[in-house]
Amino acid sequence: MPVTQVGYLALRTAHLDEWCTLLLDVVGAQLRDEGEDGTLYFRFDDRHHRLSLRPADEEGVDAMGFEVATAAELEALSARLAAGGVAVTEAAPEDCALRGVDRMIRFADPDGWPLEVYVHSLIDESGFHAARGVKGFNMGRLGLGHLVWCCPNVHASAKFYQDVLGFKLSDYIRWDGADATFLHCNPRHHSLALMNECFGMKSGVLHHIMIEVADLDDVGRAYDIVQQRKVPLVMTLGRHSNDHMTSFYFKTPSGFAIEYGWGGLLIDDETWDVKSYGSPKIWGHDLVTEAQP
Ligand SMILES: [Fe+2]
Repeated sequence: MPVTQVGYLALRTAHLDEWCTLLLDVVGAQLRDEGEDGTLYFRFDDRHHRLSLRPADEEGVDAMGFEVATAAELEALSARLAAGGVAVTEAAPEDCALRGVDRMIRFADPDGWPLEVYVHSLIDESGFHAARGVKGFNMGRLGLGHLVWCCPNVHASAKFYQDVLGFKLSDYIRWDGADATFLHCNPRHHSLALMNECFGMKSGVLHHIMIEVADLDDVGRAYDIVQQRKVPLVMTLGRHSNDHMTSFYFKTPSGFAIEYGWGGLLIDDETWDVKSYGSPKIWGHDLVTEAQP
């Protein structure tokens, strides 16, 4: 399986201060040194960073970073992409240094999302210190969490991630005109979920990213903080049908949501069978406000 995790997300934003407050006071990430261009880097575990925010005049995704285990995997993927007619560039050493990786390639997925696939992420042994007293984040080999967005042709896009990047099918949820495909690349139930254009949501904009904490109480404490600070709630506390995540969703300054959760299911490929669900929730998760701008 070539891709082993979603390693990082590089964002640009016109709302750096609001983002910083949200990530420190609500999420509990750790702010590390600022980049020369004012980019802020946030760590959640032993990696140099998992999220970066570059000051800009607009909201957007600069890159989704996917990890492969070896340089040979990176080269094989690069050749497979080129053979499929995908334009691939090898990143310059200074760009690799900004991401905290040894080598990486850049290309776009079929819908134009900017992807980076890298090898060897920089580990920071200085110890992770949560800005808020969260016990820790469920990242490590499971990666940043999961990313969810809408696609003009969800099945063609999912096929790219399966056939080219090596993701495996977890399951489907179809409800009220929504058609969602869940994909995994390590035991985390899904690292990507791709949806059709539904409920007025647009392609080309993230719907949400999921960040998982190690203790259910930290979800509850964040739920209190979000409501005390009047951060826009997107979905109330609830539990998902397929990955069993207990979570809630709140809006970021870029418009998309953060799902803040605990207790996600882990997949064993030896015994997993693909299922189809008719609802995304077991309980809760009532929509409060739309997640997109
Ligand atoms: Fe999610």
